[in-house]
Amino acid sequence: MSDQWIGVAALDELDADYPSPRRVGDLQIALHLVAGAVYATSDICSHAYAHLSDGLLEGYEVLCPLHGGSFDVRTGAAVRAPCTAPVAVYATKIESGRVYVRIGDDRHATS
Ligand code: FES
Repeated sequence: MSDQWIGVAALDELDADYPSPRRVGDLQIALHLVAGAVYATSDICSHAYAHLSDGLLEGYEVLCPLHGGSFDVRTGAAVRAPCTAPVAVYATKIESGRVYVRIGDDRHATS
């Protein structure tokens, strides 16, 4: 996968209450707008197959719509059960109102 910054959204397309799904190559990612910053995680829950972008944002937590587990969008760490494994997170930046992600920089939380 590329290690370059990839433009994925205009900042004003994002909603503060709901994650926004994006596809980058084969990857499904979710963008989360919290307190003016954008975080990017995998869009696929680590518990079972569900799209986090169908869930809700509560502060820095994204709630999975299937069983109600959650993750910290800053680190990908599982916060609420039944989730225990983290989801991948990706570096983001905002330039001139456009959101970029760096897919080659994915990492997993350790908790
Ligand atoms: S699939 Fe996400 S909590 Fe179960």
